[in-house]
Amino acid sequence: MNYKELSAQQLFAEYERVSAEYNSYKAKGLKLDISRGKPSEEQLDASLGLLSKQRTVADCKSADGFDCRNYGIAFGMPEMKAIFSDITGIPADNIIVGGNSSLNMMYDSLARAMIFGVYGSPRPWCREERIKFLCPAPGYDRHFAVTETLGFELIPVKMNADGPDMDEVEALVKDPEVKGIWCVPKYSNPTGITYSDEVVRRLAKMETGAPDFRIMWDNAYIIHDLTGESDQLLDIFKEAEKYGNEDRIFYFTSTSKITFPGAGVAMMGASKNNLDQIKPLISIQTIGPDKLNQLRHVEFLKDKEGVLSHMKLHAELLGKRFDILLNALKSGLGGLGIAEWNEPKGGYFVSLDTLPGCAKRAYTLAKEAGVTLTTVGATFPYGKDPEDKNLRLAPSYPSCEELALASEILVCVIKLATLEKMLNK
Ligand SMILES: Cc1ncc(COP(=O)(O)O)c(C=O)c1O
Repeated sequence: MNYKELSAQQLFAEYERVSAEYNSYKAKGLKLDISRGKPSEEQLDASLGLLSKQRTVADCKSADGFDCRNYGIAFGMPEMKAIFSDITGIPADNIIVGGNSSLNMMYDSLARAMIFGVYGSPRPWCREERIKFLCPAPGYDRHFAVTETLGFELIPVKMNADGPDMDEVEALVKDPEVKGIWCVPKYSNPTGITYSDEVVRRLAKMETGAPDFRIMWDNAYIIHDLTGESDQLLDIFKEAEKYGNEDRIFYFTSTSKITFPGAGVAMMGASKNNLDQIKPLISIQTIGPDKLNQLRHVEFLKDKEGVLSHMKLHAELLGKRFDILLNALKSGLGGLGIAEWNEPKGGYFVSLDTLPGCAKRAYTLAKEAGVTLTTVGATFPYGKDPEDKNLRLAPSYPSCEELALASEILVCVIKLATLEKMLNK
């Protein structure tokens, strides 16, 4: 059955049927949540080993004998840098290990740019008349919030199946007021896509009007595969180096979704020129991050192989949840012609587009039936989805039983919102 091919009478009959189904869900008084991409309790349990060790003084020392209980090593233990270097392909000398959050490092990087400028800036960014930032959308709400809070003008850019629309990006970056772009290049939040080689090359190579343009390369889902088949992402530093543009990359990732969100370890990767500007400023801001947490992570994860084998546990736990949601969408909405969604090979999200003008209504109907979805619009700059059609679905956190029920209700409210629209209700 395709809704667009039904007569008014058939649509009305379907509306009556779906409304009755909706009311039966509503009567259950449920409280379900598929709004935020948080690991489930089972995923967190997989990292409990991080906390289980009873320590002697000797256990507080790094490989070269440094006592991690004390001040010192402001930019990361060599062992922790080595793990990040192996995972990202960035030389350890170009890595700064930070605290518990890569988003914090992103915010600090842009706040520093406002106060001091970045390497190559003619002046601090706060002295510019206006700053614009490119926001491929749908994208990560917290990225957009950071640049909005700092007073930048957010410029939406269309997100394609292989990354941001590069024709649009190349045209926009000619404007010297455009100082940067947000990128989640692998298993993007929320569309799940990985940037193609061509998109990475064009980002690395493009001519920018601003001499101090920065690509905020947030590789949060770098090794977060759901299937045995991993998407391959081109190394942006290597590409940028070919054109002498390595200073334009600020690279970030963290162990938030490897070990514990909020209690993991984050890193930033940047060129020598950038680090020479940044490190003295960080040295004033902080005496250094939590090295005991770095030590725990090094002991627990060991090396890249250790990290990858740990990620297989996550893939198993997450994979079954993605299957539940995707199967429900396929069996409930497949062929109706009223929704499109992605089937990502990694990351934390499924991005679903309803027919234009139906997402907010579906959100409200879901809420009234006890299912919390990500606020509609959150995936767009200024919280405004111009077509009111994108829903970000996060299947990771609920139990499988809760997710199965939430997915059924989701299907029902998408149908109902669409039928209401089609019948002008
Ligand atoms: C794309 C992206 N970047 C960053 C983060 C947060 O990372 P962290 O915990 O390292 O601050 C998230 C969390 O959902 C995310 O989806």
